[in-house]
Amino acid sequence: MITAEENQQLSRVGKGTLMGNFFRQFWLPVCLSSELKADGDPVRLMILGEKLVAFRDSEGSVGVFDHRCPHRCASLFFGRNELGGIRCAYHGWKFDVTGKCLDQPNLEDKSKYPAGTPAIAYRVKESGGMVFAYMGERQENPRNCRRSKPSWARAMTAISRSRTATATTCRRLKATSTPPISASFMSAASTAKSSTSPIRKCSPSPRKRPRST
Ligand code: FES
Repeated sequence: MITAEENQQLSRVGKGTLMGNFFRQFWLPVCLSSELKADGDPVRLMILGEKLVAFRDSEGSVGVFDHRCPHRCASLFFGRNELGGIRCAYHGWKFDVTGKCLDQPNLEDKSKYPAGTPAIAYRVKESGGMVFAYMGERQENPRNCRRSKPSWARAMTAISRSRTATATTCRRLKATSTPPISASFMSAASTAKSSTSPIRKCSPSPRKRPRST
C-alpha cells in the first residue's frame, strides 16, 4: 500500500512535478496528423495537465502552443489559422508555428515590443501518422524512438533474417547439385533386383507339446 504522498508523486504530471518532469523527457504523441488540415481550425489538446492548441499552417508545418495568447491570455483556440500562422481573435496578434510573433496590428508603436512577444510553442515532429511534441527543456531533441527497438522486435528481425538465409542456402544447393537419380544408377538397381532371391516364407513355429503331468 502506498502512502498519500507517494500516490500524489505518482499521479501528478503538471509542470515541475516528479512524474511531469519524467514524461517531459520524451516525445509525446498529442494527436493524429489527419486531425490537422492546412489553414484549418485549431485543435484543442490537454497534455500532461497543460491546455494546448495544435494547428497546421499553409505550408503544412504543425505548431503546438500553450493555448493562452502571450498578450492578454485570450485562448488561441478561437484564433484564425491563416496565411502562415495563427491570429489571436482578441487583438489580432499573429504567431507562426515556432511561436514567433509576426504581426501586432493593435500597436501603433511597435518599438514597445521590439522582438514581439513569442507564444509558448513546443517542438513538434510527425511520424507514422501521429504528431509528437517535446515539452521538456533540453536544448537538443530527445532520441528518436525508432532507434531503440524493443527486444521482442529485435528477436523477430533476427528470426526472419535467419529464415531468409536458410532459404537462400537451400536454393543454392538445389541449383549446384547433380540430378538425384542417374540412368546408370537405375540400371544397376534393376540388375540387383533381378538377382535377389525370392522372399522366403517363415515356417510356422512348432507346436508346443502339452506338458506331461
Ligand atoms: S490577447 Fe491575443 S492579441 Fe491580445
